[in-house]
Amino acid sequence: MSSLSGRCVLVGVTGGIAAYKSADLVRRLIEHGAMVRVAMTASAVQFISPLTLQSVSGQPVHDALLDIDSETAMSHIELARWADQIIVAPATADFIARLATGLADDLLSTLCLATQAQIAIAPAMNHVMWDNPATQENIATLRDRGVDILGPDTGSQACGETGPGRMVEPEALLRWLTSQTDDQLLTGLSVLVTAGPTWEALDPVRGLTNQSSGKMGYAVAIAALKAGAKVNLISGPTALSSPPGVPTCRVTTALDMLSAVDAQVSDVDIFVSVAAVSDYRPEAHQTQKIKKHAASFNLELVRNPDILATVAGRSSPPFTVGFAAETDEPVAQARRKLEAKKVDLMVANQVGGENSPFGRDDNALILVESQSETDLGRGSKQALAQCLVREIASRYHAKYSAPGS
Ligand code: C5P
Repeated sequence: MSSLSGRCVLVGVTGGIAAYKSADLVRRLIEHGAMVRVAMTASAVQFISPLTLQSVSGQPVHDALLDIDSETAMSHIELARWADQIIVAPATADFIARLATGLADDLLSTLCLATQAQIAIAPAMNHVMWDNPATQENIATLRDRGVDILGPDTGSQACGETGPGRMVEPEALLRWLTSQTDDQLLTGLSVLVTAGPTWEALDPVRGLTNQSSGKMGYAVAIAALKAGAKVNLISGPTALSSPPGVPTCRVTTALDMLSAVDAQVSDVDIFVSVAAVSDYRPEAHQTQKIKKHAASFNLELVRNPDILATVAGRSSPPFTVGFAAETDEPVAQARRKLEAKKVDLMVANQVGGENSPFGRDDNALILVESQSETDLGRGSKQALAQCLVREIASRYHAKYSAPGS
């Protein structure tokens, strides 16, 4: 059986020169067993004929928001529900901006807004348009919302210039799509993820916190969901929206986070502690803003409980994974924490200096176990989260399917 058998894939085509490659993508998807429908924007029709895409997909092509001519036409809501996966290839700068803004002024943008399917886009545009901060901000927004950004590739462009902006080739898009469905490694399992910083108030306006954006933890939650798990996320204060399909509990302090974890962890198979939990909290929380009368000021801090160690110390703990953000010797420090907290796996990353991951979209991770290390290298937080979930799944299955486990 082909790896895309039974998958309902909606291919969105927007108006760029790379639109001619969409026909090849549709053909390959069908060869791999997918059921394919095509939705085109008005400008895509200038680049490739709907008849071409109708011929390769064997289905009428959708290009109008209100398709009143055909009795067999699916409404945009039906089409949005039908899809398991939407892939927009090519995705122009204009379409990306409209998707990021949530516009629904044509069929394809409406489908993307009305669907619960996973959305992937393969950007294609001139490299200056790609590098423009407006495009980059739109891409960051979409990535934070869980949209998969595939490419673009770098190379010679239709405009005669060279740079990033070429649409990823259909063959690579297909490889990515099949890798998504191969990855049902956590089906039937329940995963709990903590993410983001905590905030320990000193007074009504000030507090102790850290630079965690939550992006890595949210990416892990999304990757676990895609791997077939039932996922819950417990998040400290972040600017990110809850990933679709992942019930998210918002907390503020480390003590709140511990209570939320305690309430959910007993039914969980895998616990991934990505949150940057404040180690200390002020002994007293002032209800009035602290005034600057004194020349110096001492803060009395008390230790917060270690949530990860608490979970790992349960009588029947889930498979536990911790993160260790370290400024020096990340592997050695992570191994020390692995042993101290008695967790199954620690994920080390170096913070501080030029490559500090805080707030960025990329990171570099090393998996640390008592006797070995696995370097996952540098990549987008999305790609690393996907790799990490695969590594966690293989260790989980090895541990629990071993004789005597
Ligand atoms: O000891 P350190 O804070 O470096 O350990 C990092 C790991 O422990 C992370 O996985 C973090 O989520 C977790 N942690 C925790 N509760 C704390 C401190 C850290 O769960 N109070």
